[in-house]
Amino acid sequence: MKVTVVGAGAVGATCADNIARKQLCSELVILDIKEGVAEGKAMDLMQTAQIEGFDTKIIGSTNDYSKTAGSDVCVVTSGLPRKPGMTREELIGINAGIVKTVTQNLLQHSPNTILIIISNPMDTMTYLTLKSSGLPKNRVIGMGGALDSARFRYYLSQALSCSSNDLQASVIGGHGDTTMIPLTRLATYMGLPVGNFADADTLKKVAADTMVGGATLTGLLGTSAWYAPGAAGAFLVESILRDEKRVVPCCVSLDGEYEQKDICLGVPVVIGRNGWEKIIDYKLNDEEQAAFTKSADAVRNMNNVLSTLSL
Ligand code: 2OP
Repeated sequence: MKVTVVGAGAVGATCADNIARKQLCSELVILDIKEGVAEGKAMDLMQTAQIEGFDTKIIGSTNDYSKTAGSDVCVVTSGLPRKPGMTREELIGINAGIVKTVTQNLLQHSPNTILIIISNPMDTMTYLTLKSSGLPKNRVIGMGGALDSARFRYYLSQALSCSSNDLQASVIGGHGDTTMIPLTRLATYMGLPVGNFADADTLKKVAADTMVGGATLTGLLGTSAWYAPGAAGAFLVESILRDEKRVVPCCVSLDGEYEQKDICLGVPVVIGRNGWEKIIDYKLNDEEQAAFTKSADAVRNMNNVLSTLSL
């Protein structure tokens, strides 16, 4: 198996690190536009192989896409990250052109690949990738919900003083501070509703903290987070290459599901060897469906900006 990660910044390098440690593929290519950076990160990571005990061959490439040829999965992290005070949406003007070029180059050498999009604004970049590539919809996956759900479980585990591994909790909708929807009603601790263990105000705060989880980290770090975004990307690669059929909230193309069409938005999907294989219907209540519709409206407005850019 072969995987490519485009972007050797903090998110891309962390994603590559996780992929190597989990030994998900025999060959891993890291590609970046900055001279020598991908080669340097690849060499540094290869020098952890004996310590970590993996055999994955990691290759760095400065913008030479021929090295990515035949990749089963490509992870796109390219583009600018957020600065403190910036929304993900403000990155569209710069990142759209980058993501479009990167995905075209990848597909030239790996026409059968599955694409995982991490670049922001993630919902719009996923939609752009789907539309500009003409790929079957199941091969284009936006990572946001996997990350946001992990953050939701983190905040819930803090509130309930429990292990996040004993929680089931999903975030659907857009990957934006105001568009994501933590589904508190459906969140459970060992199969029991989290409402049995925390009062409504506490759970409201958990949801609010989750929604600004990325912004909180950007404020602390001075740039976007990388450990959880990189790990979430690798988690999707794992479910694809090992055909695990994990159910993960991801940004995928909707065709009537959750009452939406012609949009990529976060919903729970089964992730396996064919990419996203099936959408799970959570049977939202009226309030949740209204929030989902509002989230879709906001993401659609952002998608409309694409037509004003010269791409
Ligand atoms: C985040 O939420 C990078 O969008 C990513 O941290």
